[in-house]
Amino acid sequence: MPISNGDSLGCAMKAEIQDHTKALEVLEKEYSTGDGLDIDTLLDSDKHGALTYNDFLILPGYIGFPASDVSLDTPVTKRVSLKVPLLSSPMDTVTEHNMAIHMALLGGLGVIHHNCAPAEQAEMVRKVKRYENGFISDPVVLSPQATVSEAKELKAKWGFGGFPVTENGTLRSKLVGIVTSRDIQFHDNLNDPVTVIMSTDLVTAPAGTTLAEANEVLRSSKKGKLPIVDENGNLISLLSRSDLMKNLHYPLASKLPQSKQLICAAAIGTREEDKTRLKMLVEAGLDIVILDSSQGNSMYQIQMIRWVKENFPEIDVIGGNVVTREQAAALIAAGVDGLRIGMGSGSACITQEVMAVGRPQAAAVRSVTSFAARFGVPCIADGGIQNIGHIVKGLAAGASTVMMGGLLAGTTESPGEYFVSKEGQLVKAYRGMGSIAAMEDRKAGAGNKDSKASNAGTARYFSEKDSVLVAQGVAGSVLDRGSITKFVPYLVAGIQHSLQDIGVPSLQGLHDGVNKGTVRFEMRSASAMAEGNVHGLHSYDKKLYA
Ligand code: IMP
Repeated sequence: MPISNGDSLGCAMKAEIQDHTKALEVLEKEYSTGDGLDIDTLLDSDKHGALTYNDFLILPGYIGFPASDVSLDTPVTKRVSLKVPLLSSPMDTVTEHNMAIHMALLGGLGVIHHNCAPAEQAEMVRKVKRYENGFISDPVVLSPQATVSEAKELKAKWGFGGFPVTENGTLRSKLVGIVTSRDIQFHDNLNDPVTVIMSTDLVTAPAGTTLAEANEVLRSSKKGKLPIVDENGNLISLLSRSDLMKNLHYPLASKLPQSKQLICAAAIGTREEDKTRLKMLVEAGLDIVILDSSQGNSMYQIQMIRWVKENFPEIDVIGGNVVTREQAAALIAAGVDGLRIGMGSGSACITQEVMAVGRPQAAAVRSVTSFAARFGVPCIADGGIQNIGHIVKGLAAGASTVMMGGLLAGTTESPGEYFVSKEGQLVKAYRGMGSIAAMEDRKAGAGNKDSKASNAGTARYFSEKDSVLVAQGVAGSVLDRGSITKFVPYLVAGIQHSLQDIGVPSLQGLHDGVNKGTVRFEMRSASAMAEGNVHGLHSYDKKLYA
């Protein structure tokens, strides 16, 4: 085909503006709003009904920084911030101490469930608080009369060895030795006193040693533990090599600025006996309490918030669950430090079907967060998270953090054992706290193991006094997901890449951009959703991370 002139190939588009360098200027001058929709237009339920995560997408912005530079620092309550905006749910198939420890080590937070006796829950809090320390100020101490068998039992109970032995078996008494894991490992004479096997060639550091100095001594001594002693040789505290290693391996770990211990959160109900439970949790070192209710706007919760704030002003209180401005306002007025948003969006939840009450999650998150932000109250988007995209959409809708149940229930750190499903896949149990199984579980004793009134499941759904239990959740199983030590870093890297695509360098930047209207959205139709998923392939393998 003959080419007519040097500029065009036959059917060239006719340009309205010849000077391409003017593109940005034209955009700025002639287009009063950005492409797509601002968040309030997107989530205007008058126009198109209330939306949830799958109903919309976020439009890409300009990438001017590497994904690894994206900061995910975020508040979880008015006073406590995290480096990773991820929480695990207080459910008995999701968060016990092991999940709480690992979520905190990875920069998030695990909320310990309360479907167990208060003493059991307090023990879990204690395990989290003891897990990583600078100076361990309340180490487990043995007396010289303690037996090898007792030392072995303590190792099994706490998951660590390395117990100092003092003259009268307490802190502030003269240090005489240390029993290490290796000392007890192959010693079969279980009734021997620990003095037979303990190490006595001790390297110690004097009281007043700084953490940096103590770390240095520990490094050069090649010992596992460094006891800190006063001028009379009395044990004051302990430093552990494994804590040093943990500090190196988990730079994002959630800790309060004044402490080297992991932040610990736990859930309680709003009944009278939960006050005693909370006292025990606080004694064990609790930092944040979540008042666990499916419908938070109740006289019980409001009274409980006031009581906790009056009696434990040092503890941050997260109220909920809420999905409306009105519910949020009542809890903010009562004094909450954070809110938990979601009703009926959970993967094991049938609340919306059975109760006809609830709200699509994206609409709920936007409505509550836009109100709560005016009072500086951070919000958790709780439930309905199936992938990284959902996490980012919850954050874009205004949440400071996102809480997950089902997505984490299949990990190594969740309670329970793996089993093989009928289809031959490796799975773990996952159940809603409003499922009949969870509500009936007698494990749930608050002292009285035979009483339904002691069950966290029934309390969450105000069903303690019901003669017929009405389920709001189901019991099932979820696929094996491996360890959260791999899964959470995958989620974090995914969120950072997503924010990079959106063109915001931080979570704060995302919130600012959404509120200013510079971060834009688009609704998607059912066929757009199909287009956004894998399609047209004969077969494929969906491996999510490596
Ligand atoms: P998921 O991450 O979608 O599995 O949702 C977890 C959230 O579901 C929890 O944090 C609770 O807010 C909520 N939830 C837990 N159990 C039930 C239930 O039995 N019915 C309704 N919602 C539940």
